This record gives sequence, C-alpha cells and structure tokens, in this order.
Amino acid sequence: MESPPAVPELTLAHFSDVHLPLPAGRPAMRDLLSKRVLGYLSWRRSRQRIHRPEVLAALLADVHRHAPDHIAVTGDLTNLSLPSEFALARAWLGTVGPAERVTVIPGNHDALVAMPWAEGLGTWREWMRGDDPSGDPGGNPGTDGAFPFVRVRGRVALVGLSSAVPTAPLLATGRIGAGQAGRLAAILEELGRQDLFRIVLVHHPIHRAGEKRRKSLRDGDRLAGVLARSGAELVLHGHGHVGRLDALPGPVRPIASLGCSSASARPVGRGHKGEAARWHLLAISRPGPEWQVRVTVRRLDSAGTGFETVGTYSLAMPAAVSISR
Ligand SMILES: [Fe+2]
Repeated sequence: MESPPAVPELTLAHFSDVHLPLPAGRPAMRDLLSKRVLGYLSWRRSRQRIHRPEVLAALLADVHRHAPDHIAVTGDLTNLSLPSEFALARAWLGTVGPAERVTVIPGNHDALVAMPWAEGLGTWREWMRGDDPSGDPGGNPGTDGAFPFVRVRGRVALVGLSSAVPTAPLLATGRIGAGQAGRLAAILEELGRQDLFRIVLVHHPIHRAGEKRRKSLRDGDRLAGVLARSGAELVLHGHGHVGRLDALPGPVRPIASLGCSSASARPVGRGHKGEAARWHLLAISRPGPEWQVRVTVRRLDSAGTGFETVGTYSLAMPAAVSISR
C-alpha cells in the first residue's frame, strides 16, 4: 500500500518571464535612444502578440486558486527597463501578493540599460530583500550590493541572486560577479549547517546544454563551482522561455535545476514557436532523512483561457550520479 503523501514544509509556486505589456502610449524618443530601441521594435513586431496580459491574468488566478504558501518570480517583469514599466510592475506585484509571501529577482530585461536604483529595481525592494534588516544595504545598493538576499520560510531558505546586467545590443547575457558569488558561497554553507532546504533563484540558467552563447550566463562556471562546493537543494530559473529540468553537480548529490516558460506566453502557433505559459507548484516535504519535492506542472490549455495539470513528478535523484554541465 502506498504511504500517504507527507505534509509539505512549504508549498511554493514558481513562474518567470512575466513580460508585462508596455504602458499605454509610445515611449519618449529620449528613452529609446539606447539598446531599448531594438527591444521596442521587437516588441512591436512580434513580442506584444506573444506575451499577453490575459494569459498572465489567467496564470495568476490559477496560482491564487492553489493558495501556495509562497510565490517565487524569477525575473523579466519588464521588456525595456523603462521607468514607467518599473512602476507598472510594482503595482502588478501588489496583485501577486504581500511582499513577505512573494519573492522576486530581476532578469536581463529588467537591466536592459543602466537605470538609477530608485527608479528601477529599487522600486521592487520590498519583494526583493532578505529577512534580516541589518543585512539590507538599503539606500542605493545597486544591482550587485542588494544580492544575494535570503528569506527563510519554515525550513526552506530562498536565496535570491541577480544575473541582470546591461549588455551590448543583441546580447542577453547575464553575470553574477565575483563579489556576489563569494557571498553566495558563505550563505549556502551557513544555511547548510542549519539543515535548511536551500533554493537558489537566478534568472539565467546555470547549465550550458542547449543554451545560446549570446543569451548565456557569462560566469556560469563560477556559479556552478560555488554550487558544486557549497551545495544547494534546488535551483529555479527562467530566461529560456521553456520548461526544463536539469541536474547540476553538487557536493553530495546532483542539484536539480528547474526552469519555467514565460508566464504570459500564449499558445503555440500563429507566429509563436516557443512554449505556452506554465507555472510549477512545488510541495517541499521531509518525511524522513531526505527532502522530497513533488512538482505539479500547470500549463496553459490549447484554448488559451485556463490552466491544466500536464504532469506531476517527484524530484529524487540518486546520490551517486556524476553530472557534467
Ligand atoms: Fe524573458
């Protein structure tokens, strides 16, 4: 007889690459005199027909219906990093949930060009800061100084990273940097000593397989090295606009890395070759010495109006498997 499912320590909803619609009206010419102009043309040409507010609204309603304990959003709330987009995204975050139950990290689109902290990412600070106010750099920490941040919910620790850095036109690369990586190592080791389930949130995937160079995490080897030495239980990411599950080397056992498609992507077809919106519901439990994660995949249905479960699985990887990136 199958044993009853363990009571979760935490239920966590994960979605990514929100790509909210551009605020009404054409952006001012002075705001487009940068890398933003290419992003704006791309939005007008195709992306505004792929990333649909009605899909995002249906996804959010579905998430709320499942009443998760916590929600993680792994970046790309905006498209062009316009000040008006950051304000719109801040208002939208208020509809996702209160800051203590919603954790956000930035994506490359949220750092398309260099932005003053107060007009850009700083507007999302309540959803993007750690529990410990003494560890909050406050003021104007900039993208690097505000990360990693740590939130502990029950016996689960969420560690938020920023891989969002301005890049040259046509590039969508990311970078963690030596400072953030060094702080991450110390944080992961301390959380490991506390025997917490460590979830690393990062916009860009860390694995290399299947990723284009112009969209990759430039210092992914450095971050993979930190994880291999210091350990984590799970990595959640976005960026590729596809759902995927990979394994990264860890000190004891492989580390699962789970990615979501764009939360606003309409069904495939009519010029959309990518994947329709999905989100993952993770039930994290510890019925014995080992952690268990039950993943429910909720994907937009073919009509594009509602979400349905297209699969469930448990993350359980054997300890003695060697994985290469
Ligand atoms: Fe994206």
